[in-house]
Amino acid sequence: MAAAQLKTLWLLHGVNLDMLGRRDPSVYGRLTLAELEGLVESWAKEHGFALRCYQSNHEGELVEKIHELVIDGADAVIINPGAWTHYSYALRDALEMVTAPIAEVHLSDIHAREEWRRHSVIADVVTVRISGKGPDGYAEAVAALAAAAGAT
Ligand code: DQA
Repeated sequence: MAAAQLKTLWLLHGVNLDMLGRRDPSVYGRLTLAELEGLVESWAKEHGFALRCYQSNHEGELVEKIHELVIDGADAVIINPGAWTHYSYALRDALEMVTAPIAEVHLSDIHAREEWRRHSVIADVVTVRISGKGPDGYAEAVAALAAAAGAT
């Protein structure tokens, strides 16, 4: 498929996810963020998406990246906000402005860990939520977003 025809899928990662590979591999696995992004890129291609990736440890920077997507347009978004999932109303309000379908993905099962991880403040503004499936959760998210965005 020619690049011009491809839809854009944004893969956004929040705080501490740049440390994948080093960070508690028994919970988050051994893949680095770059390796995970490479996998998601291949899944995205299979579904007719061009992938763009962004990670930040600064909440305001991630909020500003989301503003860019709102202004410039995106066809679909996958976001794993890390710990911001559980308390960032700023992130939730930014995501609410995105009209494209959004998938919230967590590597670990946030419902089977500490009590405070069970609540997601972005849950009501996303299209699909996947948790506890490791990298496969991202593959599931790409497929769900392709269906929602009509990419394939
Ligand atoms: C996480 C789960 C969050 O609770 C945690 O703070 C993370 C990663 C996950 O992918 O499992 O940083 O989003």
